[in-house]
Amino acid sequence: MSWYDHHVLPRVIEWAMHDRRIARYRKPVLAEASGRVLEIGFGTGANLPHYPAHIKQLEIVEPHTGINARAARHLAASDIEILPHFLSAERLPFDQGSFDTVVSTFTLCSIPAVGTALEEMRRVLKTGGRFLFLEHGLSSEPAIARWQRRLTPLQKRIGGGCHLDRPIRELIETAGLAIESQKFEQRYAPKLPRVVGWLTSGVARKN
Ligand SMILES: C[S@@+](CC[C@H](N)C(=O)[O-])C[C@H]1O[C@@H](n2cnc3c(N)ncnc32)[C@H](O)[C@@H]1O
Repeated sequence: MSWYDHHVLPRVIEWAMHDRRIARYRKPVLAEASGRVLEIGFGTGANLPHYPAHIKQLEIVEPHTGINARAARHLAASDIEILPHFLSAERLPFDQGSFDTVVSTFTLCSIPAVGTALEEMRRVLKTGGRFLFLEHGLSSEPAIARWQRRLTPLQKRIGGGCHLDRPIRELIETAGLAIESQKFEQRYAPKLPRVVGWLTSGVARKN
């Protein structure tokens, strides 16, 4: 891992992910969490204040040690008990059907083998279990999508492997998860550049 990725990137992620312009979208998605919950790509814990009060314990997956270190003060400010797993989502050490809820926020953009990781998330969900997602990705506007494709090689270098141009809905459906249409939303986050601000959120079920 480069010096930038180890020392600078965790600060950039903490600053960007706790931004109020995106924080407002977290609570409505996390309100759907229930039972045994696994959060993928925990980062610096930006979701913690937005989980409903009945969530008392979370299992988390996060492979980046520098980011884990920056999560410490957010963990200390939360009452939720955390069971950490320092590993990548492409290979999850859990039995099939272990979780009621799997959460991913702003993480599908960064996972190298995202299709494999989504299949793993589906595998570890119980039948009827739900995948909650809030992600930035490929815009439906062709002009913005062209810029997202152009800028992705640079973004990957400065953003820890983050792609601007991943088709979030398609990736989730290809993994065999069924999106609940009433809860599905796509919109630009106000005041964010459109190349990063096209947000997709909702709930998908393992049938
Ligand atoms: C932009 S941050 C989002 C953090 C957090 N989910 C949030 O909403 O604030 C992306 C996170 O995905 C993590 N990540 C990258 N590759 C991963 C992988 N293969 N498996 C699990 N997490 C990964 C990164 O380390 C980083 O913490």
